[in-house]
Amino acid sequence: MPEIAFTLNGTPVRVADAAPTRTLLDWLREERGLTGTKEGCNEGDCGACTVMVTDAAGPKALNACILFLPQLHGKAVRTVEGIAGPDGTLHPVQKAMVAEHGSQCGFCTPGFVVSMAVAHAQGRTDHDDALAGNLCRCTGYAPIIRAAETARADPVPDWIRDDVPKAAPVRDGACFIPETADELATWYEAHPDATLVAGATDVGLWVTKGLRDLGPVAFLHRCRCLQQVHVYKDQIVIGAAVTMTDLMPVLRKHHPSYGEMVRRYGSEQVRNAATIGGNIANGSPIGDNPPALIALGATLRLRTAHSAREMPIEDFFVDYGRQDRRPGELVDRIDIPASAPALRVYKLSKRFDQDISAVCGAFNVTVGDGVVAGARIAFGGMAGIPKRAAHVEAALTGQAWTEATIRAAMAEMARDFTPMTDMRASAAYRLAAAENMLLRYFHELGGQPVNVLEVSA
Ligand SMILES: Cc1cc2nc3c(=O)[nH]c(=O)nc-3n(C[C@H](O)[C@H](O)[C@H](O)COP(=O)(O)OP(=O)(O)OC[C@H]3O[C@@H](n4cnc5c(N)ncnc54)[C@H](O)[C@@H]3O)c2cc1C
Ligand code: FES
Ligand code: FES
Repeated sequence: MPEIAFTLNGTPVRVADAAPTRTLLDWLREERGLTGTKEGCNEGDCGACTVMVTDAAGPKALNACILFLPQLHGKAVRTVEGIAGPDGTLHPVQKAMVAEHGSQCGFCTPGFVVSMAVAHAQGRTDHDDALAGNLCRCTGYAPIIRAAETARADPVPDWIRDDVPKAAPVRDGACFIPETADELATWYEAHPDATLVAGATDVGLWVTKGLRDLGPVAFLHRCRCLQQVHVYKDQIVIGAAVTMTDLMPVLRKHHPSYGEMVRRYGSEQVRNAATIGGNIANGSPIGDNPPALIALGATLRLRTAHSAREMPIEDFFVDYGRQDRRPGELVDRIDIPASAPALRVYKLSKRFDQDISAVCGAFNVTVGDGVVAGARIAFGGMAGIPKRAAHVEAALTGQAWTEATIRAAMAEMARDFTPMTDMRASAAYRLAAAENMLLRYFHELGGQPVNVLEVSA
């Protein structure tokens, strides 16, 4: 691995002798003896390994178990050992945790404290969302929330506020950390078998759970040009390496239903790392962005060093595990319309927060003079790929926008999908849920409250 430089609890460190897929968690515990950062699940779910990572955009909470060391290059890392000041002064959230008797067990509490310190630095008040990725609720959640509220009265300590790192670019044959998409594209063309790592929320698990040797890797996190969102009058252009956290405010403004779905996408820690391009490129049949993007009529742009091509995003997903991506081609950007007032996105999962969808349905039907002029409906979790409901769309188009039409279209769902049974849901449940989402959509556009968080008896 090339030499990686970052600051750790305020002290500059350089790492030259680690594999590029060495996780921060293992390195902290095994090389630095910083065992306050715990290993719970080792797959990004529990938050026991939460660390604070600061870059030019400010501090973020990330899961150290699926964070590779090169992803830290040029950043500042704080573990739970570095949340208190250099002279041992407790951080406001630590003081408040003591005062409020807030704690989970010894495994979970350090991760909570780090997440709380990040949220405190960001001036957050949505404590439930900020702590949704610190999964455990066995012990003292209410006192923890009280502690987070109490700590708000205190300013951000200067050792946290001044945690701004600097580092020079790094490049090397087996691990590449480019600064631009052009550099990345050139390198990738020469190394078409390499693995691209964006947020590592998928790739991390290939290493920690699959024990895979990735071979040459390139990290995308310093390619600023891939991290931009441009909002134009009619169109929004989203770079492939935009994280779900950075996308959420744009979606909330322009596509509120999609934005609300993203609030339930993984957790704070996952959204801070996970990119939209990674969620598309992985070709997962249960990724949450693709159904929404298909319903929006998004265009996907792929590029190499010398060429670029565009396609309707649904064409990218060819078959289970197979995408229309050529060797050396990277996902560059996604274009979506700036407005789609009829778009609704429904994520159905066993748990409200931080859970993979059993079914994710996205609906975008245009109605003029009471007649359906156009319909784009797509599902995740219903087939081997994210897929349009072509028969359902055909049954709606040109018909009166009535419950009778909806019921007739619901019956077409079984022609579009033969879902599978797995631990998340049975085939019959998935099919019934998808049909009922269409009915829910009809009622929602008709002005009825349909969100379980809004409906009361
Ligand atoms: C705890 C947890 C919860 C999760 N919850 C959700 C959820 O609610 N909904 C959901 O949809 N997903 C979820 N995921 C899955 C994952 O977070 C998403 O798929 C994420 O968007 C992947 O993005 P990434 O940047 O982390 O991708 P990475 O892991 O870095 O990469 C994923 C794949 O995409 C490739 N890739 C990345 N960027 C590019 C590019 N620009 N061009 C070409 N190839 C590229 C990589 O080589 C790899 O094959 C969850 C994951 C975890 C660990
Ligand atoms: S150990 Fe569970 S999220 Fe990292
Ligand atoms: S396992 Fe730690 S508090 Fe529940």
